[in-house]
Amino acid sequence: MSKIHSVIVATGSYLPAKIVTNHDLAKTVDTSHEWIFERTGITKRHIAADSELTSDIATNAARAALAASSMPIKAEEIELIIVATTTPDLTFPATATTLQAKIGAKNAFAFDVQAVCSGFVYALTIADNFIKSGQVKNALVVGAETLSRIVDWKDRNSCVLFGDGAGAVILQASTEENRGIIASKLSSDGTLNDILKTSGGPSFNQQSGFIQMAGKEVFKHAVEKMVKSVIDSLEKVSLKPSDIDLLVPHQANARILASVATRLGLSDDKVILTVADHANTSAASIPLALDFANKNNRLKKGDLVVMEALGGGLTWGSIILRW
Ligand code: ACO
Repeated sequence: MSKIHSVIVATGSYLPAKIVTNHDLAKTVDTSHEWIFERTGITKRHIAADSELTSDIATNAARAALAASSMPIKAEEIELIIVATTTPDLTFPATATTLQAKIGAKNAFAFDVQAVCSGFVYALTIADNFIKSGQVKNALVVGAETLSRIVDWKDRNSCVLFGDGAGAVILQASTEENRGIIASKLSSDGTLNDILKTSGGPSFNQQSGFIQMAGKEVFKHAVEKMVKSVIDSLEKVSLKPSDIDLLVPHQANARILASVATRLGLSDDKVILTVADHANTSAASIPLALDFANKNNRLKKGDLVVMEALGGGLTWGSIILRW
């Protein structure tokens, strides 16, 4: 019997209409466009309207992915929905079940994954395993965030870094050779949970709290751990960084991305960069970048595509796939 692979058959994304530029931020906190751009590569970010919830932006991205599939997939054909998010609508129920109701995916089971900026890599790996084991044929995997709700807009150290948005993929079972997800590696180290966290939570103080981080330490761990994760994933399938056609990384900071690309020996044309326009959208950043790459014809059949991320936890991971 042919082996089952998980293939991304469609991508979609959504960005809230409101744009906040670095110049806008400089009017409310002690910062400047030059400082933000030089240290992070960010020029602007999208911010959700007060009435827009994470499930709303996730729904828009999911509908875009469903509509983009070349072989039309109805919501009823989706058997699994995973939403990676750190900013769920409510403590419970999961944003994924709210999304399920909004799109009418009545035959799916749905749950959220919380791995902060690594959430999409974690969620896609989980969905891959449900597909490879034959339990599910069509999965909807979404990364969606309204990070603006947990940013302290008075803290210039962190508020300049983040934005809102959502990206979605349809992952489908296929027996086609040389296509789909071929390796992944997930890691975490809870002893580092203090360097990137929120100041609140339901059990801790019944609040959602604000993002707090030790920027320089996070930077160092991000570069080292994401590079090692990519190399480890590639080694699992006897490949090397020089085999990579396209890196679709978590969009935290242009300097982190440049360091990772340099250590992997990748030229600029092999790296998708959306951080300038989206800022750091946590779990949404990879599927947003993937949809950008797809729409801009940067993905060709057979390309070796690598995704990698690091986030609070610390959590990190990478996925290798043939487009
Ligand atoms: N505008 C102007 N000055 C600022 C700002 C700002 N927005 N933010 C900080 N500064 C000041 C600091 O107060 C400090 O001033 P001081 O020297 O008088 O004390 C000075 O700039 C330098 O601050 P550093 O923290 O040393 O700046 P650094 O070069 O490390 O850059 C940054 C900070 C951009 C946060 C960097 O450390 C970084 O990108 N870290 C990674 C963090 C990250 O990406 N987190 C996202 C979540 S994790 C992830 O997605 C991987």
